[in-house]
Amino acid sequence: MPALLADRALVDGIDYVFRRFHGIKVEAVPPDSCLEELVRRGIILPQRTAFTEAFGLALAYVCYEWRRQVFCPDAWGRYIERVDFRDKTVLDVGCGTGTTLRRCLDLGAKRCIGVDVNSASLDLGRILLAGEPRVEMRMGDGRTLAFENDVFDVVVCRVALNLMRADEMLSEMARVLRPGGVMFLVVHHAWYYFSMILTGKPKRMRYGAIILACDVARQILGRPTGGETFLTRRRLKRLAAHAHLRPREFWTPRTFDAYFGAILEKPADVSPDTMGGAAC
Ligand SMILES: C[S@@+](CC[C@H](N)C(=O)[O-])C[C@H]1O[C@@H](n2cnc3c(N)ncnc32)[C@H](O)[C@@H]1O
Repeated sequence: MPALLADRALVDGIDYVFRRFHGIKVEAVPPDSCLEELVRRGIILPQRTAFTEAFGLALAYVCYEWRRQVFCPDAWGRYIERVDFRDKTVLDVGCGTGTTLRRCLDLGAKRCIGVDVNSASLDLGRILLAGEPRVEMRMGDGRTLAFENDVFDVVVCRVALNLMRADEMLSEMARVLRPGGVMFLVVHHAWYYFSMILTGKPKRMRYGAIILACDVARQILGRPTGGETFLTRRRLKRLAAHAHLRPREFWTPRTFDAYFGAILEKPADVSPDTMGGAAC
């Protein structure tokens, strides 16, 4: 797998097939020679429509993220460049296979720790980042981080906050961020789920519809945001205020944007005693 990820052309090819398979917009079609090579290696099927069992969808997803964040960052991938990582100690909550950690290292981070609840993702991430002494990947839940208060210069969370009780997790991430530190967030916008409905693929349509319906039900019942959902700019602002984080920059979603994000700061005068608890 690391060898595969080192080959930009093959990653482009897998990314292309992954996107088509999931009904995600494809910008560039890789050359035929690249797809032929993937078929020859047994990574994609001769029909070029799905992945072989041996390769697996999880690995294909890694290639998709690797291309978007490391090799050829799209708008969402480039957004992270607005944070200064040079010589910083970084925590990535919900780090998955470490794609964002790779990016933080490339942007100059001194030391990076990634936590995730999924041991299979962490195992794969450790293989992908093997030989990189500045990084460590640990099993851990974003809602109860096993770190002291105020220890990280930067806390990163890319598309994990909206998978659980966002208020609990944001307060916990704010607790471990040092005063004056910066938090970088990317979350799903409602369009992410609406666009699933438009793919015409029954499994994706059902998934998108369930997430949207659950969110509407939670809003009507006044229940806190928990489990997978989307966030709105207003909701994220409210969550940030509750966690005593000051917005530095809110990245406004444009129409049809599946993601949006924010860069938040922990004010220098916030005491740990005033942080935490549940909101919304
Ligand atoms: C969509 S993936 C994003 C992975 C990575 N941040 C990236 O950008 O490639 C979301 C990740 O959040 C993790 N996750 C979900 N709930 C979590 C929790 N309570 N604590 C820590 N990680 C969690 C999942 O296991 C998954 O790896």
